[in-house]
Amino acid sequence: MWAIIGTWPFALRGVEQAARGLAAGQEAMEAAVQACRLIEDDETVDSVGRGGIPNREGYCELDAAVMDGRSLGIGAVAGLRHCPNAVLAARALLDHPTHNMLCGPGADAFAREQGLSQRPIETPQAMERWQALKRQQASHGHDTVCFLALSNNGRLASAVTTSGLGLKMPGRVGDSPLAGSGFYADDELGAAAATGLGEDIMRGLLSFQAVSYLKQGLHPQQAAEQAVLQAHQRMLRGGHQPDNMAVICLDKQGRYGAACNHQEFVYAAAAQGQPPHLVPVVPVIDNQRAAAPRELKGLR
Ligand code: GLY
Repeated sequence: MWAIIGTWPFALRGVEQAARGLAAGQEAMEAAVQACRLIEDDETVDSVGRGGIPNREGYCELDAAVMDGRSLGIGAVAGLRHCPNAVLAARALLDHPTHNMLCGPGADAFAREQGLSQRPIETPQAMERWQALKRQQASHGHDTVCFLALSNNGRLASAVTTSGLGLKMPGRVGDSPLAGSGFYADDELGAAAATGLGEDIMRGLLSFQAVSYLKQGLHPQQAAEQAVLQAHQRMLRGGHQPDNMAVICLDKQGRYGAACNHQEFVYAAAAQGQPPHLVPVVPVIDNQRAAAPRELKGLR
């Protein structure tokens, strides 16, 4: 059994590519990383890689991470300024014997040493958009691209990449490179990854929570819903109004699901016998019944 799931409609191309690879025997990690890379290279996607949205000072700082479900090994980078394929730097760190997370100039130096592309990340289009956001004094979304993959040999992997919150303060790091918050993977259970406001996702350790619910025997759809619902409600009880959060979840049997606390979330998925398709997600907080087990049309 193989499966691939990715956040947001623009993940569909990555899902299509990964589906071809996984069906031909590609390993989960390679499929997830190459799917992220494809989206990073798409300059029309303004939340990752080249063309990502700059920070308050007008330059991009990229965060990315990977996790190997067999070893629980992690590779993560934060605040990468000169390498548009942040996910490749994260993937290279997974293999490092002692260092698995680097930030800022150290992360850029590592990417250079690995021979990774040093093209400018900021595009003219992204700078125009940044100027407009500055004029409006508006912030900008944080549509992190996350892929979870299961390969035929039972291996699970997660890979995430983002330019983070638009107009963020220099040095701000979101959930995406933080294990348990932005991503998690465990071959014995499943994998999860998050998109939304990093500061809130971190409060709930959203990805780890979703995988923990798999451990309790929940279907990935229920696990994702419980993770979002519990985190959302816990923040409300503490007097904090949560911003947008969403989580995708895949189990070791290739079943998957997703949940969010807002109206906009759509994910892309494919699995053995299921061609690549998009799935709009019903928010768990508008309808509490969404937290109960349910079948998603066209999913399985
Ligand atoms: N979820 C991405 C970020 O907050 O940076």
